[in-house]
Amino acid sequence: MQEQSTDIRPGEGRPSIAIGAQNLAKRFGHVQALSDASIAVRSGEVVALFGDNGAGKSTFLKMLLGIVRPDAGHVTIADEQVELNGVRDAQRRGVDCVYQDLAQAPDLTVVDNMFLGHELVRPGLGRLFGGLSRNEMRERADQALRDLSIKLPSLNRPVSDLSGGQKQAVAVAKAVMWSSTAVLMDEPTAALGARQSEIVCDLFRTVASKGLGVLVVSHDLPRVLKVADRVVVLWRGETVLDSAAAELTVPDVVATMVGYQKAAS
Ligand SMILES: Nc1ncnc2c1ncn2[C@@H]1O[C@H](COP(=O)(O)OP(=O)(O)OP(=O)(O)O)[C@@H](O)[C@H]1O
Ligand SMILES: [Mg+2]
Repeated sequence: MQEQSTDIRPGEGRPSIAIGAQNLAKRFGHVQALSDASIAVRSGEVVALFGDNGAGKSTFLKMLLGIVRPDAGHVTIADEQVELNGVRDAQRRGVDCVYQDLAQAPDLTVVDNMFLGHELVRPGLGRLFGGLSRNEMRERADQALRDLSIKLPSLNRPVSDLSGGQKQAVAVAKAVMWSSTAVLMDEPTAALGARQSEIVCDLFRTVASKGLGVLVVSHDLPRVLKVADRVVVLWRGETVLDSAAAELTVPDVVATMVGYQKAAS
């Protein structure tokens, strides 16, 4: 298991670029999903990735995670140009993701879900979680949730008992628990109501304050724009905007997303 991240001043002992990509391209058959996509997420920074349906956002994230291999361009993790062969490669470099479907097992407890997919299997001993006892696992999960000020009724109840926002918060805490460099999120508030979306958006800032790079794909422009440091817009597979969030309004972003104007980067 990787070290738990602790509160540090952003930039201190951290890579400058937590995760980034330069000039990525990807074609699926006749579809040019990405043609020239670039991004840089610095440690301690929240970057919003916006774009219309089909602009290539999810494909972009999958390339940063090693799930999809680029036809051209390259990915940078912790200031190093990397070639990723699968998501385990990205995880080994301290990058994890919150997927839209959350990939949670509803009948398992919060604690078990936070370790799901990270267990070590040892012959004859069954599933061991990095050699941790149940108590240690519970303590790690509890600490990760407390680090983000997430309060849940119980860690020993199945996640199916939680609200949508609480499930999402558990998914974020899990990704942070297993990350030391960057956390990527694809539509983390898509299934949530207004109040729960606000809480999850506030979590992005808390995660960044731990020194991690945070990259959020979202269609919830007003909320995500408020908590982002930078905004990148993809338009038909191409990065057409990369600006400080404070310089942008929602109508600016929408105009760029639908291709009415191409703002200078
Ligand atoms: N595995 C695949 N095979 C073929 N085409 C694909 C594949 N993955 C994505 N595409 C196509 O690539 C384009 C970009 O898709 P992608 O899912 O990255 O868009 P998106 O920006 O995430 O859209 P949305 O906002 O709807 O989630 C789309 O035209 C999509 O149909
Ligand atoms: Mg998508």
